[in-house]
Amino acid sequence: MKKSELKELMNEMTLAEKIGQLVQVTPDFFNQSGEITGPAAEWQLSENKLFQIGSVLGTHTAEQVATIQKSYLEESRLKIPLLFMADVIHGYETIFPIPLALASSFSSELTEEVARLSALEATRAGVHVTFSPMADHVMDSRWGRVLESNGEDPILSAELTRGYVRGYQGTDLETETERLAACVKHFIGYGAVQGGRDYNHVDLSPIELYQNYLPAFQAAIEEGVKLVMTSFNPINGQLMSLNRPLIKETLRQELGFNGVVISDWNALEELLAHRVVGDKQQAAAEAFEAGTDIDMMSDCYINHLAEYSDLDSHALDEAVYRILKLKNELGLFENPFRGIQEEAKPIEGALRIAVKEAAMKSFVLLKNDSDTLPIRTQQQVFLLGPKASSKDILGAWSWIGKTEQAIDLAEGLTEQLPHLTVGAAESWAEPSEAEYVKLSEEAKASDVVILALGESSEETGEAASKAEICLPEYQIKLVKRMAAANKNLVVVLFNGRPLDLTAIEPYAKSIVEVWFPGSEGGRAIAETLIGQHNPEGKLPMSFPRAVGQLPFSYQAYSTGRPLTEQNQQEKYVSKYMDVGNEPLYPFGHGLSYSKLSIEAITQSAEVLTEDEPLTIQATVRNDSAQAGNTTVQLYVEDQVSELVRPVKELKSWQQLTVAGNTTAQCTFTLTAADLGYVHSNLTRYPDLGKFRFFVGLDSQNTLTGQFELCEKSEGL
Ligand code: GLC
Repeated sequence: MKKSELKELMNEMTLAEKIGQLVQVTPDFFNQSGEITGPAAEWQLSENKLFQIGSVLGTHTAEQVATIQKSYLEESRLKIPLLFMADVIHGYETIFPIPLALASSFSSELTEEVARLSALEATRAGVHVTFSPMADHVMDSRWGRVLESNGEDPILSAELTRGYVRGYQGTDLETETERLAACVKHFIGYGAVQGGRDYNHVDLSPIELYQNYLPAFQAAIEEGVKLVMTSFNPINGQLMSLNRPLIKETLRQELGFNGVVISDWNALEELLAHRVVGDKQQAAAEAFEAGTDIDMMSDCYINHLAEYSDLDSHALDEAVYRILKLKNELGLFENPFRGIQEEAKPIEGALRIAVKEAAMKSFVLLKNDSDTLPIRTQQQVFLLGPKASSKDILGAWSWIGKTEQAIDLAEGLTEQLPHLTVGAAESWAEPSEAEYVKLSEEAKASDVVILALGESSEETGEAASKAEICLPEYQIKLVKRMAAANKNLVVVLFNGRPLDLTAIEPYAKSIVEVWFPGSEGGRAIAETLIGQHNPEGKLPMSFPRAVGQLPFSYQAYSTGRPLTEQNQQEKYVSKYMDVGNEPLYPFGHGLSYSKLSIEAITQSAEVLTEDEPLTIQATVRNDSAQAGNTTVQLYVEDQVSELVRPVKELKSWQQLTVAGNTTAQCTFTLTAADLGYVHSNLTRYPDLGKFRFFVGLDSQNTLTGQFELCEKSEGL
């Protein structure tokens, strides 16, 4: 539809029809089943109003979409097609590894491909918009939603977010009907919930918000993201659904976002629970005035916005126009059944291959003493544990993922290992002593014991916060008993958050983090455990030694009394009495079956200026016969800065393959802009002066150099 025609359509709309476009409900309002991802609605919609709403969220099938769209177009006066939105977070029916797993690849090419393939399946089911990518900055794994994040580094998260938006949206949503409009979320600060408790209070300084929370949203907007979802939390005491400064000034004016702003589920009604509005009419008025275009799953707009006597008709037209424009960009006026194909060619096979590849890139080898891994295929292997034959490996946001068709670890290993014994999947919660004896006998008789442990998907994701993040006691006991029976113990971890592994670390020779690996998980893990795939993942989020260290980030601040090698015994330094300051496994950590190390670094100069970037070359050595992939990381420390700065910040990374018994080089280019940070006036620029840089295969074990950032004249 031409822009002029959209304007003409607007002119025909009544106030009620305009308000209707700002409303989103679930399929059950149309007597269809759908995904319920929040509290059930306690309000009703008249039929007249139902056929004025603008969008639906949470459908499962193309048939549902077609049924709802058809009846809507028949009943509605102006026949403006509905938008269909869904949580396509890491796949639709064929499920990819969870986003935190994909982040372990450090690859925006991977997130782009996963998003593109997810859109392939979702658009066939009639979905137009996905509530993804989740771009929340996170430092606290008590919060279950870290599983859908890109981890603790703002630059890594921004790059991975770019990949998702590119992959979902492509370049032209009207002609590319196998792409989705993306909705970046949750704007903003949701990952900083106090105590790691979901939906809890957030208190962030503007500098922290601009420095660490905004970059991923800015990246999404630069990639042309079509929607932004506001978060449940307040910033500066104002709930995000009605936070006018952050929506109208920061998001729209500063970041230049001109797409649709949608609330989170029932967030407008929840303003009453926050006690910041007295009734739904005030909730509607203040959310609308602040710039929230769509009210998801509350009846504040549909039943109360018209009561707002000061409703600005121009602002209303602008909001409605943004929604109609999005529908038009998706080609819905010409084809309300976009994406639905009568005779779709099967794609599941191709997707499953991609799922397995993505999973293998996401596994992180945390520990591998005595080269216990890879397993030799002729070895006697005993597999047991609650996740050994579990198909609960798709993760918390895999709504219509076919769990029953997921390849579990026992199935994957059975394909590869002729001498595999699988412990019966009876209740693992508390084997009897007799059962323990039997298990120990089997373990003793094996060359290697694989223990598959971790979380259920119900324990992760939204509304799944934990005050303790260690494995359940029964799993720790199983580790100890099996280690007593056989020292060659490999732990495979299925979890959606960094866990406190302190209790089991000493007992396991090898620990492999597989996260929730998706539909082909068991096959991908098996091929990795036998060495067909050499692990290459790197942790996007630190694994703490204790929950008491949280919130935690490698981007720590030095404090006035830093703990050092020399003052470990001193009292008056910043440390804990009972655990160390460092994590158990640091950000960027991930081993390989190859023996990889940074052999040397060189730098192009001692001085860096605006016109003279600095190049840093790293040589990676492989002291083993097996080629290995790895991610070389470049960190920087600002040695004297106006504001407090972290002791280390990731600035860039390079991925490379090092052939057996050789070396390989990679080069980084560091510019003055890379050294910028957010100052008191909330603008980003660097301080002149000395810097140190660190090059490593993780954020702790690095080679170091230094340089000075100078004015042009001084430097030349
Ligand atoms: C949920 C989540 C949000 C999701 C939305 C729709 O409450 O907070 O991430 O996209 O509702 O399901």
